[in-house]
Amino acid sequence: PEPLRVGVAGLGTVGASVVRVLTEKADEIASKAGRPVVVTAVSARDRNRARGIDLSNAAWHVDPSQLARSNEVDLVVELIGGAEGAARACVETAIESGRHVVTANKALLAKHGLAIAKAAEEAGVAVGFEAAVAGGIPIVKTLREGLAGNRISRVFGILNGTCNYILTRMEKEKLGFAECLADAQRLGYAEADPTFDIGGFDAAHKLALLATLAFGVEVDADGIYVEGIASITPLDLEMAEELGFRVKLLGVATRTETGVEQRVHPAMLPKDSAIARVDGVTNAVEIDGDIVGALILAGPGAGGDATASAVIADIVDVARGLRLPVFGVPAKSLAAPTRAPMATH
Ligand code: NDP
Ligand code: HSE
Repeated sequence: PEPLRVGVAGLGTVGASVVRVLTEKADEIASKAGRPVVVTAVSARDRNRARGIDLSNAAWHVDPSQLARSNEVDLVVELIGGAEGAARACVETAIESGRHVVTANKALLAKHGLAIAKAAEEAGVAVGFEAAVAGGIPIVKTLREGLAGNRISRVFGILNGTCNYILTRMEKEKLGFAECLADAQRLGYAEADPTFDIGGFDAAHKLALLATLAFGVEVDADGIYVEGIASITPLDLEMAEELGFRVKLLGVATRTETGVEQRVHPAMLPKDSAIARVDGVTNAVEIDGDIVGALILAGPGAGGDATASAVIADIVDVARGLRLPVFGVPAKSLAAPTRAPMATH
C-alpha cells in the first residue's frame, strides 16, 4: 500500500516526540494504519539545534507554510503553537492545498476553529485535534464517537497539567509557586508563554473545544469566565486542607435552559472526590451523559510522549481513511452559542 507521507511543522517538546515514536514504532503503527506512515518533511526555526531524532530522510523547510503546500506531504502535523502567525498560516495553507491536518494547537482552534472546520469540510480534508485537549486522554474521540448517542449535560475537570502540577507540589512539598512553575517549564509541560497556563487561558481554550464537541455549539472562548491560579498561596492550600478540601483549577461547561455556561477558576473540592484526588500533571474530565451516566477519564495531561500518543492516534485515523466532521457534526450546522449567566455553586 501507498505510504502516508507526513510533514511535521514544529520539532519542540511534542514534535520531537512524535517524530521519534513514528520512527521507533514504525512497524506497529503501519500494521494499525494499514500502510506505512513516513515523515517526509519537517520544519522548525533552528536547523542546528540537537533534537535527539533522526531527520536524515526528511526535507527541511524553514517556512512551515512551504512544508504545508509541498508535494512530498499528504498530511501536515502542526506542532508550532499560537493562535496566529506561522501556525495559523501553516494550517490554513495545508487545508487550501488539500492536505489533511493534525494539530495540538488549542489556542488556534479556540480562536479560529469554526473557520478552520468549515474550510476543511469544504476541501474534504480531515482535521484531527485529539492532542489539543487534555494531552494523552482520548477525550475528543470519546465525545465525538464514543458518546455519540448521548445528550451531554455537563463536562468538567482538570484541563491544565501545569497548574495541577504546581498546585500539587505547593501543597504536598510546600514549595513556592515560582519554583514549581520553573520545573513545569523544564519538563516541557508549560506553554511557550506560561501566562496561558497559570492565567487559566489554556484551560479555557480546551473548555471551549469540549463545549463545542459536547453541546454542538460554535466555539465560544470569549464567553468563558476565566480566573487563574497566580494568586493562590501555600496558606490557601493549607486552610483548604484543614477544612477537608483540595484546591484545583477547574474548567466547567454546563448546558442550561438559557444556554451554555462556561467557566475556569480555582475551586475547593471535597478531599475524597474523584477529581480532588488527581495529582501532578494528570488531567481528569467528567462527562455527564443522559444514557451513559457520569464517566471520568484521567491520564497524563501534558508532556512530549503523552501528547504524541494523541497526535499519533489522529495520524493513524487519517492513514485509515477516517474523515469525520471536525467537531462531530458539520461545522455549518453548529448552533450559535447562547451564553448562560454564571451560576454560583
Ligand atoms: P515547543 O515550544 O517546545 O516547540 C515549538 C516548535 O515550533 C519548535 O520546534 C520551534 O522551532 C517551532 N517554531 C516556532 N515558531 C516557528 C516558526 N515561525 N516557524 C517554524 N517553526 C517554528 O512547543 P510544544 O512542543 O510544547 O507545543 C507545540 C504545540 O503543542 C502547541 O500548540 C502547544 O500548545 C501544544 N501542546 C503542548 C503540550 C505539551 O505538553 N508541551 C501538550 C498538548 C498540546 P525551534 O525548535 O527551532 O525553536
Ligand atoms: N501547557 C499545557 C498544560 C499543555 O500544562 O496542560 C497541554 O495542553
